Amino acid sequence: MDIPHEAIQKHLSDPIFKFISEVADEAGVDCYAIGGYVRDIFLYRASKDIDFVVVGSGIAIAEAVSKKLGKRSKLAVYKNFGTAQVKYNDYELEFVGARKESYTHDSRKPIVENGTLEDDLKRRDFTINTLALCLNGNRFGRLTDYFNGMQDLEDLIIRTPLDPDITFSDDPLRMMRAIRFASQLGFDIFPETFDAIARNRARIEIISRERIVDELNKIMLSPKPSIGFILLEKTGLLEIIFPELVALKGAETKDGVGHKDNFYHTLAVLDNMARMSDNLWLRWAALLHDIGKPVTKRWDPKLGWTFHNHNYVGEKMIPKIFKRVKLPLNEKMRYVQKIVSMHMRPMQLVEDEVTDSAVRRLLFDAGNDIDDLMTLCEADITSKNPEKVRRFLQNFQIVRGKLKEIEEKDRVRNFQPPVDGNEIMQTFNLGQGREVGLLKSAIKEAILDGEIPNEHHAAFQFMLAKAKEMGLTPIEP
Ligand code: CTP
Repeated sequence: MDIPHEAIQKHLSDPIFKFISEVADEAGVDCYAIGGYVRDIFLYRASKDIDFVVVGSGIAIAEAVSKKLGKRSKLAVYKNFGTAQVKYNDYELEFVGARKESYTHDSRKPIVENGTLEDDLKRRDFTINTLALCLNGNRFGRLTDYFNGMQDLEDLIIRTPLDPDITFSDDPLRMMRAIRFASQLGFDIFPETFDAIARNRARIEIISRERIVDELNKIMLSPKPSIGFILLEKTGLLEIIFPELVALKGAETKDGVGHKDNFYHTLAVLDNMARMSDNLWLRWAALLHDIGKPVTKRWDPKLGWTFHNHNYVGEKMIPKIFKRVKLPLNEKMRYVQKIVSMHMRPMQLVEDEVTDSAVRRLLFDAGNDIDDLMTLCEADITSKNPEKVRRFLQNFQIVRGKLKEIEEKDRVRNFQPPVDGNEIMQTFNLGQGREVGLLKSAIKEAILDGEIPNEHHAAFQFMLAKAKEMGLTPIEP
């Protein structure tokens, strides 16, 4: 294919490249920009993270570059890995000496020797990541493409430069990377590369969960995450890293009644969500919203297939899943749990009746997450029947309208009771106890039911009446 020289020249006109070129020429070593940065030139994605291969010492060049850039640059040397990083303004420049690597079977630690540029590039993951731009003298800007990376970029193909069994056995994380790139870039995985992932899938066990979840998060954030999850499932990786998702697969039929395949439904919801929001955690909520379905599935001769309380069961499964896959066990997880546990509420509301008090309760329970919850509910509509879709969306619009109206009127989103526990205790000279709790919750319920407005005077009068029924009398002020 034709080499887009203009795009290359445009990127290399950034003064940082001339700068590094001069340092490399002075040191008399060949230096190349390689990897993701070069690939992304041709995918029209700009980046300030740049990897360089030096045919010689990467550390020595990094030191020289950092020295010449002066005080504003920061150098970090990783002697054990033979790499060094220079940070300068927004740039992150990684230098490594060209190497020949081979790996032992049960470890990611390579045996490393010095090598040529080709030795170095062939031990990399995919052909699209093996492109190199020379930075020396009159070869400045010349593209090296030993493994047909440009052709694979044009054909949208992820393929290993060597026999894929070797590439994946060198570093099994690359199986996840192949799928992540396919999902991020919308590329296909070359059939032999795909088969090798399926064959080598068990090797993923030697990779740390932190690195696996990094790739999963990148898949989650890609424009169409289902591409990644379908590939993970088809290669057998998903069964190893996320069996709960595989359990969603399949559509059973009994007495002529079937239920939908919850795996593909979930992925459709996730893709819908990816079009609506970039919030990683809301996307996780979309992926996990039906995770409790396989455990709660029952056949009821009268009702057909039921998944009673699958939202609450799902909510309870999430901490175990987050812990195992190494997602954070903090407010992000609690947010995902909350959205999963509440994901049926707006639909139930539509199916019953959109009364003010039901909307007020929804708003109170969801708080600031109400918009995200509504977004998930809209993403959850995956029916193939356009009439049904239109009706659901219209109903949710009604709910959204009502939510706005009630929030403006009653401000229950961040509800703070207008009469609090302290005031109750003072009014009736009570200590902490059951009666205070009862009065507090009666006030809250009355406001949510719309019996009284969300105001102090009304709540106080209501409390006096309620207390009287309970046999309590206020002390004189
Ligand atoms: N690489 C590899 N095997 C890995 C990780 C990285 O061969 N397991 C090589 C690839 O040539 C890659 C380069 O190292 O292009 C830089 O890696 P990294 O910065 O992790 O990835 P990028 O390709 O730059 O892509 P991204 O930034 O999207 O992760």
